[in-house]
Amino acid sequence: MKLIIYISLILSVYFSTPSPGVLADNNLETGIDLLKRCSSCHALGDISNNKVGPSLYGVFGRRAGKVAGYKYSKALINSKIIWDETTIDKYIANPKEYIPGNKMAFWGIKSIKERDAVINYLKIATE
Ligand code: HEC
Repeated sequence: MKLIIYISLILSVYFSTPSPGVLADNNLETGIDLLKRCSSCHALGDISNNKVGPSLYGVFGRRAGKVAGYKYSKALINSKIIWDETTIDKYIANPKEYIPGNKMAFWGIKSIKERDAVINYLKIATE
């Protein structure tokens, strides 16, 4: 439950240092809310915990299809993608279009703002 601790930490910092620019932006809630959807299929803070999807712990900078013990689709393994802000953004925008034949049953997030938000918090939660 490292993620919950992280989130409460972020929230307490957020609310104790109000700044008009930050408060006007709902990026934080959006990111945390969307990340919950990812974490229903993916562990974020524990590399040895594969759920429906592989653990995303340390995913930034890693090649696709490399978590031990997880049975990936051939499409994902053969994609040779390195996961970073750009590739994760393209994948979660439309998983089926970015890697045809992959098995992530996720509808995709159409809004760039929402994808930005979720990727920001994915970074924190998976490092
Ligand atoms: C319904 C379950 C489900 C949801 C929800 C889901 N995923 Fe996935 N995800 C998967 C599965 C299954 C795979 C493996 C795909 C394959 O092998 O083809 C995967 C693979 C991935 C990978 C590649 C990991 C690797 O080791 O190469 C990334 C990155 C990823 N998902 C990110 C996300 C993010 C970010 C979200 C939330 C916005 C999300 N996923 C939501 C099921 C899900």
